Amino acid sequence: MTILSHDVIVVGGGGAGLRAAIAAHEAGADTAIVTKLHPVRSHTGAAEGGINAALRDGDSWELHADDTMKGSDYLGDAPAIETLARDAPENVIQLEHWGMPFSRDDDGRVSQRPFGGLSFPRTTYAGAETGHHMLHTMYEQVVKRGIEVYDEFYVSRLAVSDEPDPTDRQCHGVVAINLRRGELWGFHARNGVILATGGPGQVYDHTTNAVTCTGDGHAMAYRVGVLLEDMEFVQFHPTTLPSTGVLISEGVRGEGGKLFNAHGERFMYERGYATTAGELASRDVVSRAELTEIAEGRGFEDEYVYLDMRHLGPERIEDRLENILHLARDFEGVDGLTEPMPVKPGQHYVMGGIETNEHGQTCIDGLYAAGECACVSVHGANRLGGNALPELIVFGRRAGLHAAGADLGDAIISTGRDDTTEPWDGTFDTPIGSIETDTAVTDGGSAEPEEVVSAALDDEQRRIDALFERDDGIRHAEVRHNVQQTMTAHVNVFREPEGMQQALADIRQARVDYQDIFVEDTSKTFNTDLIQAIETRNVIDVAETIVMSAIARTEFRGAHWREDFQSRRDDVWLKHTFVSWDDGQPSLWFKPVLLDGERTYEPKERSY
Ligand code: FUM
Repeated sequence: MTILSHDVIVVGGGGAGLRAAIAAHEAGADTAIVTKLHPVRSHTGAAEGGINAALRDGDSWELHADDTMKGSDYLGDAPAIETLARDAPENVIQLEHWGMPFSRDDDGRVSQRPFGGLSFPRTTYAGAETGHHMLHTMYEQVVKRGIEVYDEFYVSRLAVSDEPDPTDRQCHGVVAINLRRGELWGFHARNGVILATGGPGQVYDHTTNAVTCTGDGHAMAYRVGVLLEDMEFVQFHPTTLPSTGVLISEGVRGEGGKLFNAHGERFMYERGYATTAGELASRDVVSRAELTEIAEGRGFEDEYVYLDMRHLGPERIEDRLENILHLARDFEGVDGLTEPMPVKPGQHYVMGGIETNEHGQTCIDGLYAAGECACVSVHGANRLGGNALPELIVFGRRAGLHAAGADLGDAIISTGRDDTTEPWDGTFDTPIGSIETDTAVTDGGSAEPEEVVSAALDDEQRRIDALFERDDGIRHAEVRHNVQQTMTAHVNVFREPEGMQQALADIRQARVDYQDIFVEDTSKTFNTDLIQAIETRNVIDVAETIVMSAIARTEFRGAHWREDFQSRRDDVWLKHTFVSWDDGQPSLWFKPVLLDGERTYEPKERSY
C-alpha cells in the first residue's frame, strides 16, 4: 500500500489547479498536483475567447462587478463578485509577467475585445486559444518551481473522517488510481486538499466539454457532506458546432461576427431579442433567441442558425481568430473565410458547484475547491463570457494561499448549514428508491490522519473489487448515455415541469441500473473501462442535483427558464439552492443571496 504525504494536495491540473499549486508553493507549502490528465491536456486548454479584467482607463473593477452582477441575474454573491473584479487585473498582469503570449495592439498593450454582457471591452485574449496559452504559461511555472505532479492518477475518493455533522469532519487526503500501474495510492495532505476538477459537462450529450469533464470533484465532495450550490444553473453556449458540440468562441461575435436566421435576418436585432447589444447580449439571452428562431421555422435544417465572420476579412480573422478557422474546417467541414458557420446552443458550463467561501474553503475542514467545480458564487444564474478564466486564477490562487496557511482575513461568505438555512418543503414525483448508499466518509473522528487515508484506501479497494464482481449485466456506457439523453431532452435551455420530473425519474432509474453494471476489462494498466464506470456514478449524482434544484426553483432567472414560471420572482427567490447528501438521501436547502458587499446591488430588470 503506497501512501505519500504533502502539505497541500491539489486535485486537477487545469487552470485553477495550476494556479492554486503555484500559490501554495509560494506560500511555503510542500505542494503536489494529482491529476487524471497531464496538466496541459486539461479542459482549460479548450477555453478560447479570453479573460475579463479591468485594465484600462475608462474601465474599473466596479464596472466589472456591476456587469457580473447583472449577468448573474442578481444571484451572485457581492463579496465574491467584488473579489473577482478587484483581483483579476493583478492576476492577469502576473500571467503576462510569466510570459503568457497575449494578443497585442499596435502600441504594444495587451489587446482587449468586447464580449457578451460587458459594458466595456475588457476581455484580454491570446488569439482564440487563450486557455491553451494560459495552461502552458502556468505549467512552466509549476515545472520551474519543482512542484510534484502525479499525472495519470485518477482521484476517486476523499479521505474524510466520519463525524455525524459534516462541519465537524476533516479532510486528510485523497485516494487515487495510479492509471499506469492499476494500483490504488493514498495521498495524505497535512494542510489541505484543493479540488480543481473542472465542470460536469458530460452530464449532457451535446457539450463543449471534454470527455474527462465528469463532475468527479462535485460528486466526491457531495458524498462526504459538502453542499452543492445552485446546480440548476447550466450555461448553454450559443455558438457550438452542430455535429460535435465543439466551441466557436464568443470572440467571433466580439470581433463583429453576426448571427443570421434562414430569412437572412440579423434576428438578435430584427426580432427584438436584444436591440442594444444584439449578438453580444449575455449567453442565456442569445441561446434562447436561437432556439426560438429554430422552433418557429426560421432555422436551417430545423437545427441551427448561421454565424458569419466573412466580412471581417482574412487578415483580421487569421490574426485574431485563426483557431476558429481550424475548428470549423476540421469539425464541420466549413471554411469560415468564405462560408457562414452553422451553430446551435450547447452545454458549456455549470454556474453552480461545490459551495465555498472566498478563500476556497468548503464546510469540511481541510477541503477546498476552486474553478468551475466550485461555487463561491460569482456567476449566479448566468456566467458572462470571459469570467471563467479570471475565476480560475483569482480563486485558485486564494485557495492555494489559504491552504498553505496564509492569512487572508476573515471570510464574509459562510459555508454549510447555519441559522440562515431553510429546508425545501416540496416533494418529487419519483422517490429516491433503492440505491447504493455509500457515504464515502471513513473511520472515527479520533483516528490519526494517516489512518483515515489508509481506511479510505481500503474502502475504495472494496468499492472497486465490487465493480469487478459481475461479468455480465448492464453496460455503464448505456447508463451514462441514458442520463445524457434525458438531461439533453428535458433539462436544457427550455424547461417544463413534466419534462424535469421525467428526467428525475430517468436518473433515479439510472441509479438502480448502476447497481448492475459490470467492468469487462480486467487489465491493470490504463483500464479506461473501470475509470468510466466510476465516472458514470459521478455523472448520475451530479445530474440528480441539477434536476432536483431545477424542479425546486419555481421562477425564470438567468439560464433557468421555466415554461410555468415566466418571470423572476425576487420576493421569494433571492436565494441559493443547495443539495446535500444526508444518510444516503439527497435533500434540498436554501440560503439567502448576499447583495451587500463593499457596495450594495439593487436587483433591476435585466435587458441588453
Ligand atoms: O466563447 C468563448 O470563447 C468562451 C469563453 C468563456 O466561456 O468564457
